[in-house]
Amino acid sequence: MSQRRQILVTSALPYANGSLHLGHLLEHIQTDIWVRFQQTRGHDCTYVCADDAHGTAIMLKAEELGISPEAHIENMKAEHMADFQGFLINHHNYHSTHSEENKALSSLIYERLKANGHIASRKITQAFDPEKQLFLADRYIKGSCPKCKAEDQYGDNCEACGATYAPADLINPRSVISGATPITKESEHFFFRLPAFQDFLKDWTRAGHLQPEVANKLAEWLDAGLQEWDISRDAPYFGFEIPGEKDKFFYVWLDAPIGYMAAHKNLCDLTGADWHAIWDKDSTAELYHFIGKDIVNFHALFWPAMLSSAQFRTPTKVCVHGFLTVNGKKMSKSRGTFINAKSYLEHLNPEYLRYYFAAKLTAGVDDLDLNLEDFVNRVNSDLVGKVVNIASRTAKFVNKAGGQLAENPEPELWAAFVNAGSTIAELYEAREFGRAMREIMALADQANEYIAAKAPWSLAKQEGTEAEVLAICSLGINMFRALLTYLKPVLPAMTEAAEAFLGETLTWEAPVSYRAGSQINTFTPLMTRVDTKAIDAMIEANKQPEPAPQTATGPLADEPLAPEISFDDFAKVDLRVALIKDAQHVEGADKLLQLTLDLGGETRNVFSGIKSAYKPEDLVGKLTVMVANLAPRKMKFGMSEGMVIAAGPGKKEIYLMEPHAGAKPGQRVM
Ligand code: 2FM
Ligand code: ZN
Repeated sequence: MSQRRQILVTSALPYANGSLHLGHLLEHIQTDIWVRFQQTRGHDCTYVCADDAHGTAIMLKAEELGISPEAHIENMKAEHMADFQGFLINHHNYHSTHSEENKALSSLIYERLKANGHIASRKITQAFDPEKQLFLADRYIKGSCPKCKAEDQYGDNCEACGATYAPADLINPRSVISGATPITKESEHFFFRLPAFQDFLKDWTRAGHLQPEVANKLAEWLDAGLQEWDISRDAPYFGFEIPGEKDKFFYVWLDAPIGYMAAHKNLCDLTGADWHAIWDKDSTAELYHFIGKDIVNFHALFWPAMLSSAQFRTPTKVCVHGFLTVNGKKMSKSRGTFINAKSYLEHLNPEYLRYYFAAKLTAGVDDLDLNLEDFVNRVNSDLVGKVVNIASRTAKFVNKAGGQLAENPEPELWAAFVNAGSTIAELYEAREFGRAMREIMALADQANEYIAAKAPWSLAKQEGTEAEVLAICSLGINMFRALLTYLKPVLPAMTEAAEAFLGETLTWEAPVSYRAGSQINTFTPLMTRVDTKAIDAMIEANKQPEPAPQTATGPLADEPLAPEISFDDFAKVDLRVALIKDAQHVEGADKLLQLTLDLGGETRNVFSGIKSAYKPEDLVGKLTVMVANLAPRKMKFGMSEGMVIAAGPGKKEIYLMEPHAGAKPGQRVM
């Protein structure tokens, strides 16, 4: 066996502001399988992760929940850890970016970048929420698209027509947080001088650290030229304050990858392992980051550049995977395919999903589809029908014969199982898990064909065949041992149960060897078939109502809503009880009546379009409600000093608002 490698592996740090879903699990299962593979091959492989706990979204979420951000991220971390455990993800440490280690390392790295002249600072102008006193990222600004006028579009692009623009271009922009109209405000920001790393990154991205398709994508960006990267955010912000600056915080994406180092530091401090052996510039250890294709720039440009400036080692490999789709479509809450991790665990065995993902994963960045029908068929046919079946068809004959495994009757067949080990290992190493699973299932087919051909159940009915039956079934058990050795990284729980039955721990540090002359235990079923009812129930449980449609039908569609106003805008409207002292027709006006309104000491002249519904004489002496602080408007017939409140479809059906009984003129209505 090759030399013992020292490897540190990470998965992307999940945000501490939401529950995990199967998309997260795709990545963590991929990583966990690779880590378990390295371990079963005898390497020193450590897997760390953490919650990504900083940023505006987390701060606002905590505020919404009425708890401190610290309490919020603590709760989220506990939930995430329980979910990961449920899926048998074996992190050696699951930490948080909101930690002492991360604060110290973020400061250290920042200071080193600064000392190297890689930090710039300058004033920039940004949208600012004057009510919330908060700078607004593009996603916190909405308004109407400047191009197609669709309402309720985010600050950087229009979902209706696909236009991209600056938030300042939006029509009637508003802060999603408070509803206030954003103003622009200047503040000082700090930037990482990424362009200084142009040549370094051109080399690094082509030096075998990335999949070719990822390197090609990055080459497009590198050729277009890199921009300085804004790494600071103004208070209020939940994060780490920048050393030496007041009310300036590290942008969440600055300290997130440093969270990998911090999670590992926290582990080393507990176990006494050598943190520097991994992270020092001259380290010979390996460092692997597993991430999704949406965060490549952070991991394959910013991160190696930061590490290099700060005199740390850079990653051995950044392993990028695609997105998860369900039944061929983007995961959807209304279809119930945005499947929450906990909900999956309430309905189905985690190893079904681990196997299914393994069977479909490649080393590429293509999206992976969880087709639920295929999921059922593949798990039932491969795991239950092929693998477990080998043991369940042969174990009972070994048990009957006393439980001791006999010598190998078919060296050639067994040799195929041993020899396949190196190919399967190469495929695991290269993250070609799907191909590895196909090799393993091809072996399982050979095993089943052999057992079917020998039919030990028929043979056992004949006299004097005990030794032959035992030999056939012992080979059956050995083939099962080999298969589970190869499947151990994917199916740790099933392997553990099989190990109890076999009375041994399956290892793969050397080629699998034939076992004979020792005792196995009684076989108990290792996995049941996927129940399609459980899948239906899971989908049902994950269904959430469709969000309110963007385009209304009915009256709303005929006359779309006016731009949203804030509560404060609404509260500016001063409604008062008014006594109608006089009402007159207006000469030359078809719709208007002229009202003289007494506001309890003050008299107002108001023109109102209620002539079709009211006779002037019927109004005199009645109380109504008026907007008393409306700016006077010059009309054709004179000045109108306010507005009475009336509603209805029109013509005879217009109803003047009436105040409560006992109301007095001038009294405020709300
Ligand atoms: O995209 C995300 O979900 C981020 N929280 C990933 C961070 S990975 C690392 F850099 F910390
Ligand atoms: Zn548009």
